[in-house]
Amino acid sequence: MSDKKDKATFTNRDLSENIKKTLGLDREKLDEAYVAQVKQFNLPTELLSPANKRNHIELYEGYVASFNRISAELDTADRQNANSNNSPYRDLKIDETYNMNAAYLHQLYFSNISDLHSEISMDSLSYMRLARDFGSFDDWQRDFVACCMASRCGWAITYFNTYMQRYMNCPVDLHSLNVPIGAYPVIVMDVWQHAYYRDYLKDIKTYVYGMMKQLNWKVIERRFEKADSVQKAIKV
Ligand SMILES: [Fe+2]
Repeated sequence: MSDKKDKATFTNRDLSENIKKTLGLDREKLDEAYVAQVKQFNLPTELLSPANKRNHIELYEGYVASFNRISAELDTADRQNANSNNSPYRDLKIDETYNMNAAYLHQLYFSNISDLHSEISMDSLSYMRLARDFGSFDDWQRDFVACCMASRCGWAITYFNTYMQRYMNCPVDLHSLNVPIGAYPVIVMDVWQHAYYRDYLKDIKTYVYGMMKQLNWKVIERRFEKADSVQKAIKV
């Protein structure tokens, strides 16, 4: 920053341009708000009603729209007066994570369920990695279901932990509470009430078992392959 300017006179643009200059970054690219795209999903499963699926897709589209709106608002948000008690910048950042996680967790969920020909082979990377890190494939299943039951209106996730260098399960509350750092998600289950209540009332376990019988292991296998690449890249 220029020494000639008093701190209080710095605008957001001054600060932004100085950071970009210091880091040698392209000014134009950083000026653009990021945008997430709505994806289309084919959900042939009969274990969820058409009304449930339609409602769920609409909710997902709402999260993407919110995320993009927040991204645009953050472009011009007041960073000078950001504080932890009450500031529009803080509100936007909290909502940014909430809606971003909601958008991408739903994409991961919709694409890893509803495979009517669901099948996993014992020589797949998915099977071998889960057996290696949980003791057995059945042990992974038991732990994953426990995470589904333990989540407070949120998600259960099997993820590659880039720090521990192994796969782990975790429950996430809502969309953004108790999310572990360094997590690369490979299997994602929505256990918000909106995902099952219309069809299963409070019987979340029957919903979870149904979804797990139709996990799309082809999609999941590609995620395990990518996680292997992430692991190799981080080790370098
Ligand atoms: Fe959902």
